Amino acid sequence: MVDLTGKVAVVTGAGGVLCSVLAKALASSGAKVALLDLNEEACHTVARQIVADGGQAQGYVCNVLEKAALEKVCQSIMKEWGSIDILVNGAGGNHPRATTNDEYYDRQAPADSNFFDLDPQGVEFVFSLNFMGSFLPSQVFAHEMKEGSTIINISSMNAFTPLTKIPAYSAAKASISNFTQWLAVYFAKAGIRCNALAPGFFATSQNARLLFNENGEPTPRLEKILAGTPMARLGKPEEIVGTLLYLVDEKASGFVNGVVIPIDGGFSAYSGV
Ligand SMILES: NC(=O)c1ccc[n+]([C@@H]2O[C@H](COP(=O)([O-])OP(=O)(O)OC[C@H]3O[C@@H](n4cnc5c(N)ncnc54)[C@H](O)[C@@H]3O)[C@@H](O)[C@H]2O)c1
Repeated sequence: MVDLTGKVAVVTGAGGVLCSVLAKALASSGAKVALLDLNEEACHTVARQIVADGGQAQGYVCNVLEKAALEKVCQSIMKEWGSIDILVNGAGGNHPRATTNDEYYDRQAPADSNFFDLDPQGVEFVFSLNFMGSFLPSQVFAHEMKEGSTIINISSMNAFTPLTKIPAYSAAKASISNFTQWLAVYFAKAGIRCNALAPGFFATSQNARLLFNENGEPTPRLEKILAGTPMARLGKPEEIVGTLLYLVDEKASGFVNGVVIPIDGGFSAYSGV
């Protein structure tokens, strides 16, 4: 049982599938939770659900790529709740314009969305959302953090070994694992720890297009993923919660700093043979 009473948590991307579950778990453990998301409806809905369940939460419509907007939210949180103890950098994702159609280059195939056709702006969007979208909130919110605070980034399986088709997302998530180590070192003497969760494969809105056909049948890609996951199933969002609570709990993980923990049913441990 992790007791976060008196702590204030900021969760970005909190209206999304995984981070709404993480935000609710922090609130159930006693934290006051600020939910940041571009999607107004989503962040306010999750905040209302937390409050209805007896927790404390406030939704903020905020783009993690706009520093001035983050600073405004930060000032509001400090005024309202007086501290920032936990930051979960959850906003992130891929974009179709940074995704190749094929896994392997075929010189004969029509050139529509092979590597040479990828839109530089799509690639920049993905880098920006995943890297700057964690960098800027860390700059803004960690500035207010006292000793004993923690930052949690969200990395991915792509960071260990890139997945086919999504070069920008893979490289951007590798940058998140790297940045997690950098922050852990930089803030170590200030008493702020930084670690990352690396979820394996979870069925969510952003990967639905790659995992399921329009009729709901698994795509060949999902079949490959399941074959590469020794536990042979997708993860459930609630299965990330225990690792988050462990990492934010000073008593449980006070000497754990700069790690990236896979939550993946064994995917990253399996060579396929
Ligand atoms: N779903 C998976 O299987 C999986 C696996 C590994 C890592 N991840 C990572 O976990 C995190 C959460 O993913 P998810 O699957 O819950 O995604 P999701 O799409 O359900 O949620 C992402 C949320 O971020 C918000 N968002 C997007 N851009 C934003 C911006 N610029 N500013 C503020 N909010 C913004 C969206 O509105 C959305 O609510 C992401 O970083 C993702 O890359 C997901």
